[in-house]
Amino acid sequence: MSPANRTARISLTRYLVEQQREHGHIPAQLRLLIEVVARACKTIAIAVNKGALGDVLGTAGSENVQGEVQKKLDVISNEVLIEANEWGGHLAAMASEEMDSIHVVPNRYPQGEYMLLFDPLDGSSNIDVNVSIGTIFSVLRKIGHARGIAEEDFLQPGKQQAAAGYCVYGPQTTLVLTVGSGVAMFTLDRETGSWVLTAEQVQIPEDTREFAINMSNLRHWAPPVRRYIDECLAGREGPRGKDFNMRWVASMVADVHRILTRGGVFLYPWDKREADKPGKLRLMYEANPMAFIVEQAGGMATDGQRRILDLVPGKLHERVAVVLGSRHEVERVTRYHAETGGAA
Ligand code: AHG
Ligand code: MN
Ligand code: MN
Repeated sequence: MSPANRTARISLTRYLVEQQREHGHIPAQLRLLIEVVARACKTIAIAVNKGALGDVLGTAGSENVQGEVQKKLDVISNEVLIEANEWGGHLAAMASEEMDSIHVVPNRYPQGEYMLLFDPLDGSSNIDVNVSIGTIFSVLRKIGHARGIAEEDFLQPGKQQAAAGYCVYGPQTTLVLTVGSGVAMFTLDRETGSWVLTAEQVQIPEDTREFAINMSNLRHWAPPVRRYIDECLAGREGPRGKDFNMRWVASMVADVHRILTRGGVFLYPWDKREADKPGKLRLMYEANPMAFIVEQAGGMATDGQRRILDLVPGKLHERVAVVLGSRHEVERVTRYHAETGGAA
């Protein structure tokens, strides 16, 4: 059945219901959660689309906990996700790139068994220049039945995620989702307002000739990353014996989406500009959900040495080095780190 065929359209709701029937791993609360997040993404997509016609461009005049200047859309998207999710009874608490500490569901609403983490607006530097941006989310289960919830409840390794996804606000608005049984993509039909299944069991090719890294940081990288990129740049005459192409959107969602679509490897490694931090990207709401999606699509994700999904977070806003995408390239980068004695 071709999902492009109008009469055979499969909506997000139908996909989730059928996944529950087939695999039994999407209880009603999780289904509600995913549908609410997807609906919030539609609201964010509408705000993104308004651009200069709405009051959505430029900075908000505030900083987040990581010391980054917040854009208006960072703040708007964060509010949309919180307001959409706090009343449904499916969540115990939320955490976000844009909030210092966790947001516990207020007492006036029932508490659910899930915890939601998000990067409400990924690729903030691309908002004002009209380049693809996105939303990334991760879902964890609250472990234990103790009343109340604290930040420690969130500090679970990524392999315990119940679901993860992202939405790309690009030429098309696309929602990519995993609940642990492969990766599905849904395209927003703006005429009907529904998410339509447009790809299922997405697979990342094991080999690639395309890498994504911010080359302007080359002089700050550790030797294993430098070696890997030098070899790619050497092309057909070098040790790899083939030419490589490069892409860098500077929105992780857009770079990961390209890799899911046609393969590639994405690196945001440690670099000596901020030597005391493991990397730029955040483990719990950027690296973990993307690593879950990439692994579910047959790819691989490490911090240069260890599988990202095995890392046990020490704090909510922890950072991590990221190497993800086509399996053979990620294996190679990880091997180079091992050979150099583990420099990240
Ligand atoms: P965010 O906008 O949520 O802070 O994330 C931006 C991240 C990521 O999306 C992207 O891959 C990377 O930062 C871009 O970094 P550079 O500006 O160093 O290219
Ligand atoms: Mn981000
Ligand atoms: Mn962000």
